[in-house]
Amino acid sequence: MIVTLPDRFEFLSDAWLDEARKFLERECNSNQERLGGRAFSVSERFTDAPPHLKFEGDIGSWGMRYDGKSLTVTREFNPSSDLTVEGEYQAALAGAQFVGLLAPGVIDAMRREVATMFGKDALRVKGALKDRAANLMLALLHDHLGRRTVENPDLAHRAARQGLAGKIREIEEKGYTVIERAISPEFADEVRRATLRALLPHQTFSMNWMLYHGREFEQLIQNPLLMTLIDASLGRGAVIASFSCIKKGPGPGVIPMHTDYAHVPEPYPEFSLTGVGVWALEDWRIESGPTYLVPGSHRMRRPPRPGEGNDGAVPIEMPKGSVVYFTQGVWHRQGDRTEPGDRVTLHAHFNRGILRSLEPKKTDVQMLHRNSPRLGEMLGEDDWFDNMSAAGRDHVRFAYMQQLLAYTEKQKRAILAGAGAPNELRRP
Ligand SMILES: [Fe+2]
Repeated sequence: MIVTLPDRFEFLSDAWLDEARKFLERECNSNQERLGGRAFSVSERFTDAPPHLKFEGDIGSWGMRYDGKSLTVTREFNPSSDLTVEGEYQAALAGAQFVGLLAPGVIDAMRREVATMFGKDALRVKGALKDRAANLMLALLHDHLGRRTVENPDLAHRAARQGLAGKIREIEEKGYTVIERAISPEFADEVRRATLRALLPHQTFSMNWMLYHGREFEQLIQNPLLMTLIDASLGRGAVIASFSCIKKGPGPGVIPMHTDYAHVPEPYPEFSLTGVGVWALEDWRIESGPTYLVPGSHRMRRPPRPGEGNDGAVPIEMPKGSVVYFTQGVWHRQGDRTEPGDRVTLHAHFNRGILRSLEPKKTDVQMLHRNSPRLGEMLGEDDWFDNMSAAGRDHVRFAYMQQLLAYTEKQKRAILAGAGAPNELRRP
């Protein structure tokens, strides 16, 4: 049995369905007049749910029907509902954690990013609700549940469904991996524009605390694919060390070969302490001055000595919207840029949850409200550190994180031992 923090639940679990029922009962009662006695119904059915949810055939479903007067919420999928959604559990979960559906463009963005991550047929929507009040209620239900819905805690199952099991094995071997096109080119453009908007005149090279500069950054840092790599290398409860941007114009690289292990004594531990996902917001070619990495250098368990490592370094070439993730003290440097224009990057740097960060965390209750619990987790909300109160230690958070870390570690071992799924998603 997987334990979640109070008032959180796994997508499609009994607790999730109970919360949906409670929400809809309350809303249907208080909006009777606006609903005007018009009937509407919605059904959803998703395959390849994590085995621990114990759905028959790993297919999870639910449905609701309002007959104009009373409401029924069941586990049944009814194909003749006004609106049906079918597809894969992990893709649907990514959509379920997209909060803020009533803001302009968000529903389209949700569909676009889910299709980018899981393929265009991963979710199939049929029909629609004609009634405005019914649509509004459904969007509010989605958000209400989304800000309480946790990520699939089964790392092995999740990685397979996201096509990332091989990437996790690659990180172990080389110290890094690339996820190509983890976000859409449209979203990459939006993030690039938002980054240039945020850069202060005196900080034209690099700026920190990017999380606090708009929705684009809140969404980018929760990218479910990158988060799976972070969970695998740093464990659950990894926290933001820094979320910075770099704007780099033409000229030689200005960051020489190094590791990101400040003040870590040699030899470095055999597990990773920190990891960074660098987002390419334009195509990265050799001329763009990409990041250079030394494959396997994490096994040296020390930083490079002056001049060392440059021979073995390889440039990371990848299309716009891709992310390179490197960890465990792997050696890296900035490349020389020989083409005109700026290379604009976002660096999502995470620490294992037991470590201190560069950026002090500024938890904003409104920000937590407009995101899934993933965001709180990376701001340290889910563990017991910095949470001592007059009542003493936060044992609930301690127990929760302890079991999540243990389960994640167990499933990571299974991935490294070669576990996959017969129907594992194939990433390009
Ligand atoms: Fe670095």
